[in-house]
Amino acid sequence: MQIVDRIFEPYIDQKTVENAIRSVANRINIDYENQSIVFLGILNGAFMFCSDLMKNIQLESDISFVKLSSYQGTKSGGTVHELIGLMQNLKGKNVVIVEDIVDTGLTLDKIFSMIDRDEPASVEVATLLFKPSAYKGSHIPKYIGIEIPDEFVVGYGMDYQGIGRNIPAIYKIKN
Ligand code: IMP
Repeated sequence: MQIVDRIFEPYIDQKTVENAIRSVANRINIDYENQSIVFLGILNGAFMFCSDLMKNIQLESDISFVKLSSYQGTKSGGTVHELIGLMQNLKGKNVVIVEDIVDTGLTLDKIFSMIDRDEPASVEVATLLFKPSAYKGSHIPKYIGIEIPDEFVVGYGMDYQGIGRNIPAIYKIKN
């Protein structure tokens, strides 16, 4: 499949994505039994994962969003820009940050610095995909859907130059 100027090939099918999401949701349902949580979705990429994850959550839960950006093309730009800030006070809340993919971890570090001042009761991270070999941050996600090598992927909310977010499965770049 061509997206802008690059070719992408099928990588993770829709069923595998759905199973990974159910397994993440089940772990959250067990770990937070009888508690309420606030999901904090990171726009744009996590919108689809947030939606499907929440449908599988049986706890009292709220959701808030922030919009951050670090990627330029297929590489992290190294600086994370805050495009829409935190609109909700998270004091005393159990927060679960929801990411589409954790790559270098810079975005996560930025989010932690944004929410720590609110003094939440707890903060954990749920990510659909995790690239352990690219990670150099200080907050390893507790809930990981699927670990992948350091490949650039699109689909299921993730984009290449703004395109590809609507694809229901995950494709990787063909080198
Ligand atoms: P990090 O700050 O390097 O961990 O990157 C996190 C953000 O970069 C993710 O939320 C995505 O929006 C974007 N990103 C990282 N890797 C990919 C990829 O392979 N495809 C598309 N977007 C990516």
